[in-house]
Amino acid sequence: MNSEIVKFQILREKKILVLYGGWSAERDISCLTGKAILSSLLHQRFNVAGFDVREDNLADIDCDIAYIALHGTGGEDGIIQDFLASKGICYTGSNATVSRVCIDKFRTKQKLDALNIPTPSYFKSKVAKLVFKGEPIVCKAMNEGSAIGVHIIKTQEDFERAILDLSKYNEVMVEEYIAGREFTVGIVGDLVLPVIEIVSANEFYDFDAKYSLGKSKHLFPLGFDFLKDLAKKTHDALGCRAVSRVDFMLDKAGKPFVIEINTIPGMTETSLLPDAAAKIGINFDDLVFRILETSVFNKVF
Ligand SMILES: Nc1ncnc2c1ncn2[C@@H]1O[C@H](COP(=O)(O)OP(=O)(O)O)[C@@H](O)[C@H]1O
Ligand SMILES: [Mg+2]
Repeated sequence: MNSEIVKFQILREKKILVLYGGWSAERDISCLTGKAILSSLLHQRFNVAGFDVREDNLADIDCDIAYIALHGTGGEDGIIQDFLASKGICYTGSNATVSRVCIDKFRTKQKLDALNIPTPSYFKSKVAKLVFKGEPIVCKAMNEGSAIGVHIIKTQEDFERAILDLSKYNEVMVEEYIAGREFTVGIVGDLVLPVIEIVSANEFYDFDAKYSLGKSKHLFPLGFDFLKDLAKKTHDALGCRAVSRVDFMLDKAGKPFVIEINTIPGMTETSLLPDAAAKIGINFDDLVFRILETSVFNKVF
């Protein structure tokens, strides 16, 4: 029998819980990602249920395999991964140590620098000490996703608006603004998916552009395969497992910069990873299964 079928049958006998929701600012997106994964696994006739994660109900998680569909704090930052590992529960995606680095945009960039992987220059700053000198900058909350707490500042007015929003964070990261094109590359198991160029209707790929139908276009331009190599190098060097999505900016001269690595990429209707997979004939069910399979059979705890 083909080994894929054997793996499928082994996984069919396991009790799987799709963990979604959580308590981060990306809760609503996680619910969408979770619902999509749950219905796919049900459709593939796995022994699966959904579990809405809250800060106070982790102890109720009871399963053989946790399919983590959480984004942001609590779910993508090593907390749930540590908890599941302590209970001996197998889970999808990267381990706790890797998750802790990748959720933190500052620590990720320190690693990228150490690996000589190009990333826009950056520094940490107390929000109270931020200054705008006229050159465009990007200010980012360090542990959020979905463009929450990301501000592109080009004018004094942008700066003032950003400060209002960022005042809820103590420290933020200031990053060099890269004027140019935006790309992302997904990795699933051993596969590097086609390069997507993101074209937003908005000033940048903000929350609205990410999740409103029609507010961003996913293009598949030819000639950018070098980004696949850089994405794979980044995924491997940071120790990601089973799945990730590496975001890039390309400056006007065509020089690529890695801006972040997402260890639990969104799987909603407008998400990039399912779109890239579909481009090479991997449908949503197949994508969900591949993430499960590589996570379980290539354990790196
Ligand atoms: N250094 C940068 N230069 C230009 N645009 C950027 C830069 N960093 C981020 N952006 C824009 O902001 C968006 C969100 O930033 P990102 O760091 O990917 O955070 P998130 O985790 O919220 O996706 C990006 O998709 C891109 O459109
Ligand atoms: Mg991003």
